Amino acid sequence: MPRPYVILNAAMTLDGKIATSCGDSKISSEADLTRLHRLRAKMDAVMVGAGTILADNPSLTVRRVKGRNPIRVVVDGMARISTNAKILDHSARTIVAVSRAADKEKVERLRQTGAEIIISDGENIDLQWLLEELYRRGIRKLLLEGGSTLNWNMISQGLVDEIQVTVAPRIVGGAAAKTLVGGDGFCKVKNGVRLRLSKISRVGSDVLLVYRTAGAQRD
Ligand SMILES: NC(=O)c1ccc[n+]([C@@H]2O[C@H](COP(=O)([O-])OP(=O)(O)OC[C@H]3O[C@@H](n4cnc5c(N)ncnc54)[C@H](OP(=O)(O)O)[C@@H]3O)[C@@H](O)[C@H]2O)c1
Repeated sequence: MPRPYVILNAAMTLDGKIATSCGDSKISSEADLTRLHRLRAKMDAVMVGAGTILADNPSLTVRRVKGRNPIRVVVDGMARISTNAKILDHSARTIVAVSRAADKEKVERLRQTGAEIIISDGENIDLQWLLEELYRRGIRKLLLEGGSTLNWNMISQGLVDEIQVTVAPRIVGGAAAKTLVGGDGFCKVKNGVRLRLSKISRVGSDVLLVYRTAGAQRD
């Protein structure tokens, strides 16, 4: 079964952090935010993990350029996001993916906000299966916007085709600060996900790096 073409987008500091140890994730420059909104407008859907919704409460819409809003998808195994989260407003369609382990009443409350609910068997959402479900709903191009845990789950399972990362000229440190990719990691560098650099450019004071993963699907 085919799945959407997946682009992971993130803004990180030179030391690889996508948020500070206090949770500040305002890393993108104005120029980079405009680039991100232009990219969003070209995508069928944008996907984030529950942790990003809880930390940042983003609306994930297109505001800085003219264009249509992508469908918003949240991977929220335990249905932890608030029913007041901005992604549940009615400015765009929203899909919340939960697992069977999630509290049924909470799931029902999320459904009542107008969100479409996708329920996965098991405690963890099978992300390959979820992407196939999204493809069945007409989603061909998906923008993955983090955070650290979902990025790891997607990348380590070979579900990311392209990475667009802007590097801001800042170093924030902090052992506990979230990095571009979290999770358990690989022990051996040789087992790490292999990437091919396809573009380097300047975006304001940031550097934009574009990579393709080795097994990338064609867009
Ligand atoms: N600078 C940037 O570009 C950027 C972009 C996005 C986010 N961020 C930052 O990243 C941080 C958030 O990262 P994070 O790692 O804490 O959270 P996250 O990756 O956004 O979300 C992780 C959560 O998503 C759910 N999830 C992920 N994969 C799942 C699966 N296969 N099955 C079921 N549930 C799954 C889990 O929720 P449950 O634990 O409830 O099961 C998991 O805890 C924030 O500080 C945010 O500001 C930065």
